[in-house]
Amino acid sequence: EKGGYDHFMLKEIYEQPSVIKDTYRGRLLANQGIIKMSGLEDNLSKFTNADRIIIVACGTSWHAGLVAEYIFEDLARIPVEVEYASEFRYRNPVITEKDVVIAISQSGETADTLAAIKLAKQKGAFVFGVCNVVGSTISRETHAGSYTHAGPEIGVASTKAFTTQITVLTMIALRLANVKGTISQSDYMLQLRELESITSKVEEALQSEPKIKEIAQVFKDAANFLYLGRGYNFPVALEGALKLKEISYIHAEGYPAAEMKHGPIALIDEQMPVVVIAVNSNHYEKVVSNIEEIKARKGKIIAVVTEGDTQVKQLADYIMEVPATPESLTPLVTTIPLQLLSYHIAVMLGKNVDQPRNLAKSVTVE
Ligand code: F6R
Repeated sequence: EKGGYDHFMLKEIYEQPSVIKDTYRGRLLANQGIIKMSGLEDNLSKFTNADRIIIVACGTSWHAGLVAEYIFEDLARIPVEVEYASEFRYRNPVITEKDVVIAISQSGETADTLAAIKLAKQKGAFVFGVCNVVGSTISRETHAGSYTHAGPEIGVASTKAFTTQITVLTMIALRLANVKGTISQSDYMLQLRELESITSKVEEALQSEPKIKEIAQVFKDAANFLYLGRGYNFPVALEGALKLKEISYIHAEGYPAAEMKHGPIALIDEQMPVVVIAVNSNHYEKVVSNIEEIKARKGKIIAVVTEGDTQVKQLADYIMEVPATPESLTPLVTTIPLQLLSYHIAVMLGKNVDQPRNLAKSVTVE
């Protein structure tokens, strides 16, 4: 049941520290520098010999795929393409036996993702699944895979499935980086330790809930929202916007922050809340200047910042703090305040958070 929470969505948001731990438990041995997932180990050469990885998924799982693209390319130096399963399957894609296709699906039943992997198999690719539901169709149709251990996700809006998908994909990338030698041993060890301690940082990020609730109160009647991020946090911006749309029915768009000046900046006025992910990263200074551009046009800035931040704090109208973590792991913490923000806005607007209109938990039609 809901375990004392008002909604399944909130319960599932709060389960994230424990299900992330369930997902790496027994697979990640940080002190020994070991990552072992049998589905991956049994097929390691398929990955290390691959010309590229193609990730297919829909919705939130597609956003996890976009995060994985940054991680795989950055750490393991493998070219990655991330495809909407529905587009991939209908466009006569170029796939060969030298491709590895990763299908990401919480339910393991999404019709378009299933059709995409069937196509990839026909063309001779090796297909690897990252599913949550054990024994689901996609987990059976793939050649191998690694499960996420999120447990049952009841809320239609996906939360803990997303962060556990990122956890599995990060472990895969780190293992491959280690095998290929594209990461230094010291960086590898650091990343493993940081991944192991991410659960307490997610826990810490959840403690901002009262503050986020106040921000939700201020902006709940806005007609539109923009979400901006760069690098690893660009997909988090997309996911933040999707969460708001699907449960509050407020129009929201996620954008790479630098694309603002190519069009969307025309939308900015004093009515427009702009959620900017501005944590410490290689892009920090660039994001600061994106924030200044929005301020100059009177947009309202809600910034996700690293604890102890001073620069963005001065510019933003509201801030949501998350603990510091290596850049590749930031999506696991920056996602949390955005989930809570959309949850509280939807609750304040009286929406059916767990069962939003027009949506089903698994989309088994094409
Ligand atoms: C968003 C959401 C959907 C699913 C999408 C894919 O909150 O729930 O966008 O992410 O339908 O579903 P799975 O992962 O089951 O293939």
